Amino acid sequence: MIELKDVVYCRLGTTDLAGSEWYAVNILGLEISDRRADAVYFKSDHRQHTLCYFEGDPADQTTAFEIGTAQDLNRAGATLEGLQRGVHYGTREECELRHVAAFIGFKDLTGNKIEFVLRPDTTAQAYHGTRDAGITGFSHVGLCSSDVERDEAFWTQVCNARVSDRIGDAPLMRLGTIHHSIALFPYHKPGIQHINHQVGGTDDIQRSFNFVRENKVNVTFGPGRHPTSSAEFLYFTGPEGMTFEYSSGVVEIHDEPLWRNRQFHFEPKGFCHWGATPNIAAFKD
Ligand SMILES: [Fe+2]
Repeated sequence: MIELKDVVYCRLGTTDLAGSEWYAVNILGLEISDRRADAVYFKSDHRQHTLCYFEGDPADQTTAFEIGTAQDLNRAGATLEGLQRGVHYGTREECELRHVAAFIGFKDLTGNKIEFVLRPDTTAQAYHGTRDAGITGFSHVGLCSSDVERDEAFWTQVCNARVSDRIGDAPLMRLGTIHHSIALFPYHKPGIQHINHQVGGTDDIQRSFNFVRENKVNVTFGPGRHPTSSAEFLYFTGPEGMTFEYSSGVVEIHDEPLWRNRQFHFEPKGFCHWGATPNIAAFKD
């Protein structure tokens, strides 16, 4: 069993690095933590970075998860090689670019680029976004899946994810106590379906709803409340068509043995208590 601790960062290719940086700072509300010739790093919490935009193909998207020890990482590499996943062991230079001690990279069966990383850097500095979006941290990703049952089996049987709830066949899965760190949504091609940052409360959600609309950003879902995680949410469009989400009030699961995953409908009422309708391809199937 590959024991993952948390989702760590996303790496997104962009053909407009300056434009993506502008959006990340001025709309999303992240803070620049590092800058390289062809990449900009952003922090959203205590971690060194939780998002990196680099000059490249917008379809080049990677999600990273933290693993506990070097032995765990080596075992995970062997497990993934046994599954013919084509494991790449990060070079010293690649590790330095990711601010991690070591990592392995592979593609899941849908084709999503995944990294398992060891000892990602944290900083002694709190996050201070210049735009007051109320962000408290990077929290989860939605990944596209060409076969959610197959990919759920990878995350829950090869790795330690547990299904908290399902919307249709789409599993919302936790790694720690937070209701979900990974969600899978049926889609015909690989990619990150959405990137979630938690915000402080309802006021932040509503304030951002007005802010992004005033800035001509396309709101794709919400404001609303997820019946699954209880979180209030807002989804909107970012650079290269990426969907970003703010949410607040996600439930934590502490009674692990007692929790039973629930089944929700794959239709608007399964996604929103308040009657909002998603305008996101993978939520509409
Ligand atoms: Fe989400």
